[in-house]
Amino acid sequence: MQLRILGTAAGGGLPQWNCACPGCAGARRDPARRRLHDGLAFHGPDPASSWFLANATPDIAEQLESHPGLRPEAGQDRTPVVRVVLTDAELDHVLGLFRLREASRIEVWATEPVRRALLTRLHLADVLDPYTRLAWHDLPSTGQAPPADIAGLRVEAVPLSAKRPRYAADEPAHPAWSVALRVHDPSTGGTALYAPALATWSDAFDKETARADCLLLDGTFLDEDEPRRTGISERTASGMGHLPVEGPQGTARRLHRAAAEHRYYTHLNNTNPLTDPADPAHERLAGLGLRVAAERMLITL
Ligand code: MLT
Ligand code: MN
Ligand code: ZN
Repeated sequence: MQLRILGTAAGGGLPQWNCACPGCAGARRDPARRRLHDGLAFHGPDPASSWFLANATPDIAEQLESHPGLRPEAGQDRTPVVRVVLTDAELDHVLGLFRLREASRIEVWATEPVRRALLTRLHLADVLDPYTRLAWHDLPSTGQAPPADIAGLRVEAVPLSAKRPRYAADEPAHPAWSVALRVHDPSTGGTALYAPALATWSDAFDKETARADCLLLDGTFLDEDEPRRTGISERTASGMGHLPVEGPQGTARRLHRAAAEHRYYTHLNNTNPLTDPADPAHERLAGLGLRVAAERMLITL
């Protein structure tokens, strides 16, 4: 399979339109530091088969346009169907569904609480109905049902937490509000694991990291106190549902122990010092064999 990184920023992107923090100011000075909202595109083993997306960000139209492999083929009028697998119902991962309304059909794979939030809180089906056809598929959880077969790849959810979007904060708890996506290519044996919101590192998640070749994990905050220190929240990083990269709660040491050939952080908040390529934290991570994912990276598994 081929995995394209369409973006690597948390909600707001980099720069965020209303923010003048050092990360956002740096990205305005140096366009190479800009990051779009995190999302991925997967291509299966069959070159004739179409790609699918992991998450549909507010930047989705630009993301599709800037990757030649994701534009409509010459001689083909339109991209007829677009397929999207969701990790959660966060606005930074679902607003792009509204932007995809020009498709003749949008196929969405989501867990039950995510689908319900999109239908009852964001009224996705009511809004899109006059524009396009929305087709829903259950996103199966590992061990509970066979994986979904999408473009020749086996796709399933690893339930991570009951972290729900702020617009759905009063919805009942459910273990699959926020999931990691496991994407496996049976023709090569390659496996990718994508977890943009890692609230806890459970034993089940640990097992999944051990059998993946490519890990793309939550790099929202560098340390536990970053949200409070930078004034964006009264809560800590893990209190906001994002384990920090460094410190006693940090994921770096655990990610370092994973055997995966590719180990990257994504979903960087604009407050994260890692948005500055000169920040010394990059060297500390490199010492552990870890890196921040670059925009537009292509990984073959
Ligand atoms: C998150 O990743 O925690 C959310 O996207 C934050 C938000 O924008 O509400
Ligand atoms: Mn987010
Ligand atoms: Zn900022």
